[in-house]
Amino acid sequence: MIADMPRSVLMCPPTFFDVREAKNPYMGRPIDRARAQRQWDNLRRALEQASITVETIAPVEGLDDMVFAANQVFVGYHDKIGKFIVPSHMRYASRQKEVPYYIDWFRQHGYKVIELHLDGEYLEGHGDLLWHPDRSKIWAAYGFRSTRGGVEKFTAAMQDLGIPVVQLHLVDSHCYHLDTCLSPLTADACLINPGAYSKESLDTLRRSWKRIYELTSDEAHRFMGNGIVANGRYITPYLSDNLSKILAAEGLTPVVVDTSEFEKSGGSAFCMKAFLD
Ligand code: ARG
Repeated sequence: MIADMPRSVLMCPPTFFDVREAKNPYMGRPIDRARAQRQWDNLRRALEQASITVETIAPVEGLDDMVFAANQVFVGYHDKIGKFIVPSHMRYASRQKEVPYYIDWFRQHGYKVIELHLDGEYLEGHGDLLWHPDRSKIWAAYGFRSTRGGVEKFTAAMQDLGIPVVQLHLVDSHCYHLDTCLSPLTADACLINPGAYSKESLDTLRRSWKRIYELTSDEAHRFMGNGIVANGRYITPYLSDNLSKILAAEGLTPVVVDTSEFEKSGGSAFCMKAFLD
């Protein structure tokens, strides 16, 4: 089955991108902002070459991680209510400040806002919440950034809309967000880093997908599982022999885009955009 491929994404230019506080184990080295801008431009170009429309949100001075557009809201669609978002409650106070800017952008673009009362819980948008490619369910992870309670509240809200949510427990701090260790390739096939999950969650994944391809932890920690599936292509920061064989087996063409400056912040291609449809 061919997955319903997204046609547009939201990105935030890295004008004020920086590494100031170690929010994950990758963070510590200084970034080169001019280089980051060039890498961001190349990622944008790679998406456009894959026939994806790139929309942008204005960067805000002082919000050093605003460039990671996958985290501030969960973006959804439902036949009855139409386009909607679920705003995140980010674990780090510095990142919590990004959320209102994203909510405004989505409101202005006609999205309904479903506010969860997340007090004391955390939920980090598409860092931890991934649509199944056929939109039949949502994969939701907790452990490092989103909390189990946050994922429970999200699950209840989606249940009210009739959308099932499958919960997963993350256990590898280098795969602190679900988008670093689960990459849905089609409705039947996905890429995972098995070392990133509790035993029970790994069993759940193995039962749910027809074809599961495995990355080594080393490959996953180099963000090869943080790629973007874009109209028959897989945009990835690196390409190992293993990944190349997996993509060939699923008929996807690899497109390598250097994201090294963003990796110093613990993110790569997938983290730098939100799918809009
Ligand atoms: N420095 C950011 C943070 O730790 C990176 C976010 C990466 N985003 C992602 N979707 N995995 O919050």
